Amino acid sequence: MKADLLVTGISQLATAQGAGPKRGAAMRAVRVTEHAALAVADGMVVWADREEAWTGEAAAAIDVGNRAVVPGLVDPHTHAVWAGDRLADFEARTSGVGYEAILAAGGGIWSTIRATAACPEDDLAALARPRIEALLRSGATTIEVKSGYGFVPGAELTMLRAIRSLGASTAARIVPTLLIHVPPRVASDRAAYVSHVCASLIPRVAQEELAAAVDVFVEKEAWSAEEAEAMLAAAHNNGLAIKLHTEQFQRVGGLELGLRLGALSVDHLEACVPEQFAAIAQSSTVATILPGVSLHLGLPPAAGRAMIDAGAAVAVGTDLNPGSSPLFSAALALALAVRLNGLTAQEALVAGTVNAACALGRTGREVTSRGRLEAGLAADFLVLEGSDWRDLVYTLGANPVRDVFVRGQRIAV
Ligand code: NIG
Ligand code: FE
Repeated sequence: MKADLLVTGISQLATAQGAGPKRGAAMRAVRVTEHAALAVADGMVVWADREEAWTGEAAAAIDVGNRAVVPGLVDPHTHAVWAGDRLADFEARTSGVGYEAILAAGGGIWSTIRATAACPEDDLAALARPRIEALLRSGATTIEVKSGYGFVPGAELTMLRAIRSLGASTAARIVPTLLIHVPPRVASDRAAYVSHVCASLIPRVAQEELAAAVDVFVEKEAWSAEEAEAMLAAAHNNGLAIKLHTEQFQRVGGLELGLRLGALSVDHLEACVPEQFAAIAQSSTVATILPGVSLHLGLPPAAGRAMIDAGAAVAVGTDLNPGSSPLFSAALALALAVRLNGLTAQEALVAGTVNAACALGRTGREVTSRGRLEAGLAADFLVLEGSDWRDLVYTLGANPVRDVFVRGQRIAV
């Protein structure tokens, strides 16, 4: 066998096993190979096993010095493009004002919309670039980025174009999503907005290939399940995948809608109740939990442990955004999922790699080849600082990731 690069000196090569996320229980397994090596050709893994078993030829070699290697993380949920800040909200919340009350009063997400919609495309991309670099440094080699702070359809398009230009200027693989975030504040304007999204915005986004999926925020202070259904059906009719922000504060039918429509993922789920866990488990939809939100808003975390026990496929995202989760580390999101959502280290690795990749798409080599380290799959991997892979989810505050490789190339981060 011939390789471009052989990576040796790997104390532990830890990777999720198995392709699909279908059953949480089946996907819990992490395979750890001690004293391993990894061979790369053309950006793909061509061989991974115990170092002593390597018999091929490699054009170059790197010895990582007895350190652990894991797959590049997949962050399946971010709002990394925004302008302005939410420090006044933060101060209000820490003095006892609720997130929903701030939103209902026209602040919160609305204040970020005011700042973002006024910002040109290049400036939006420039603001987001260091955030993406921070996520990449923390181990996220694939990052989903949502629009949703444009509100006016033209400003949503500007956000998606900024996301596209970010994707062209970072080593991270960027997956764009159109987010239909909050409805017009005047109730009588909602129906016209939904019609415009369905008849004009979504077809345009699909035609210009500006997003892979459409996300709708279903919540008492946002869209109803009925309004969301119309927009998600339009997404489907235009060949786009769907996902939902749902059951964050209240249950207004978003989860059931997402499962019925075959959403890639249902995200947040802090307000989910046990009867809903089995329904998720019986679906092909990934349950994406966001522990940064629970930490930052001081609200009860999603029941990740119980969801996995019920058989659901759980993914973890940072939800990086200025209002509910200013969390710039994918590794820390996994560490928090262990502490706040009750995942084991193994489940957190699965949640942050292969399950998160499935939350971004179920078909297409680009997405399904990520999140695991096996011959034939993408050579996106992390060299950790330590020799035990569990440091990835143990460490708090310091970055457990030493080196990041995307397509077999070491990224200067
Ligand atoms: O995922 N819940 C809705 N949307 C975002 C927060 C956006 C914001 O507060 O700016 C979320 O939590
Ligand atoms: Fe979000």
